[in-house]
Amino acid sequence: MGISVGIVGLGQFGSAFVPLFKAHPLVDRIALCDMEPDRVKRFAEDPFIKEKLRENDLYYSFDDICKSDIDAIAIITQPWLHAPQAVKAMENGKHVYSAVPVIYLPDGDEILEWCDKLVKTSEKTGMVYMLGETSYYHPESMFCRRKAKEGKFGNIFYAEGEYFHDVDSVCNLRVVNKKRTSTKSGREYLEILKKYAERGIKTGPMHYPTHSVGGLFSVIGSRAEKVIGYGYKNQNNDPFFKTYNYEFSNEVALVKMESGTVVRIIEFREVAGSIADSETFRIFGTKGSYAEKRWMYNGRDNPPAPHILKTIILTDEQMRDPLPEEVLKEFKKAIYRDKKEEDLQNIDFVPTGHKGSHPYLVHEFVSAVYKERKPAIDVRTAAHWMAVGVMAHKSALKDGEMLKIPHW
Ligand SMILES: NC(=O)c1ccc[n+]([C@@H]2O[C@H](COP(=O)([O-])OP(=O)(O)OC[C@H]3O[C@@H](n4cnc5c(N)ncnc54)[C@H](O)[C@@H]3O)[C@@H](O)[C@H]2O)c1
Repeated sequence: MGISVGIVGLGQFGSAFVPLFKAHPLVDRIALCDMEPDRVKRFAEDPFIKEKLRENDLYYSFDDICKSDIDAIAIITQPWLHAPQAVKAMENGKHVYSAVPVIYLPDGDEILEWCDKLVKTSEKTGMVYMLGETSYYHPESMFCRRKAKEGKFGNIFYAEGEYFHDVDSVCNLRVVNKKRTSTKSGREYLEILKKYAERGIKTGPMHYPTHSVGGLFSVIGSRAEKVIGYGYKNQNNDPFFKTYNYEFSNEVALVKMESGTVVRIIEFREVAGSIADSETFRIFGTKGSYAEKRWMYNGRDNPPAPHILKTIILTDEQMRDPLPEEVLKEFKKAIYRDKKEEDLQNIDFVPTGHKGSHPYLVHEFVSAVYKERKPAIDVRTAAHWMAVGVMAHKSALKDGEMLKIPHW
């Protein structure tokens, strides 16, 4: 017997996950929940989704799905709701998958308090908490984790992680935020934001540090110890940064890891172009380095012997980890729903969503709950990565004061 999963938040992002949770072979039953009834209806009428959906598994309030007998809940609501909903779900005996970030609020101290509550609640209840960090399953993250595990980097002494997301980029942040604040829950948040503004509390892009930090830190495999941050203030009275209470539109941080590695992190929201990919990293080791789909390896021994630097150019397919055959077969049915089942065997599976991360995230969470094990991005890891951003922003507000980064 498999598990049951309820998906809460059927907006732009959550909608991409419903078919994947439904398709996973270890999921027997799904439930749907959104405060906006038309968003639930859209999926409830879909024949593919209906195969694992009972009529009474449609919910319009978070409280109601928490009272149900569903095993696990995927929280894909707006970012300021994640942590309180995750705590409530775990207290009601549900395993939790949360979209990133752990929580988004203007006040860093409140974010840290929520991180603490999440860790304590997961431990007290024994419920799985997994952060759905897409960068963890970017092809380069999977490849570099394998290389790090094999010791092929030698010592990683320097790395760069970055997330370039200009307000007017293709995934336009003005439009995204307008949509997120247009629903009932969104309008409530605009009122809450005004209270932060009255208290003079201002946010920065480092309060959404997840994509610049997650994948990269999973490769380095060490905790972050201290940080120095700097910010750039918007200078043309852009209404976006005023409405959403930004002190800085761009932030840069230098992090010292416990391993000794120095990491430069970028979170930019007001920028022309990007260095390479808009979300990626570069890692430099004494034996091996990774940058822009290139693996550079010198094979240097200890003590050093003559060596030749080899450079290999990689494709995403070469970098990705394989998914189990039986899972892949079902995901294919979800992704290529316009194709006949007999034609699917001739189609190569190309994972979808944020550099192909979505199927991996769903598979990892479902497997962790089913096997009652710790997920890849567990609660302590998620809380620590969030704290890196919080402390980077705090440092930027203090013009680069060096600050310690908490961990759990
Ligand atoms: N790469 C990534 O990892 C990535 C990319 C995009 C979005 N996200 C995250 O996904 C989340 C969702 O983003 P989105 O753009 O889909 O937002 P959205 O506003 O389109 O959707 C959120 C939905 O949640 C519903 N909701 C809110 N409170 C609820 C409640 N109490 N009960 C039931 N339903 C409720 C809303 O009605 C809405 O339909 C965000 O937190 C965002 O940070 C992550």
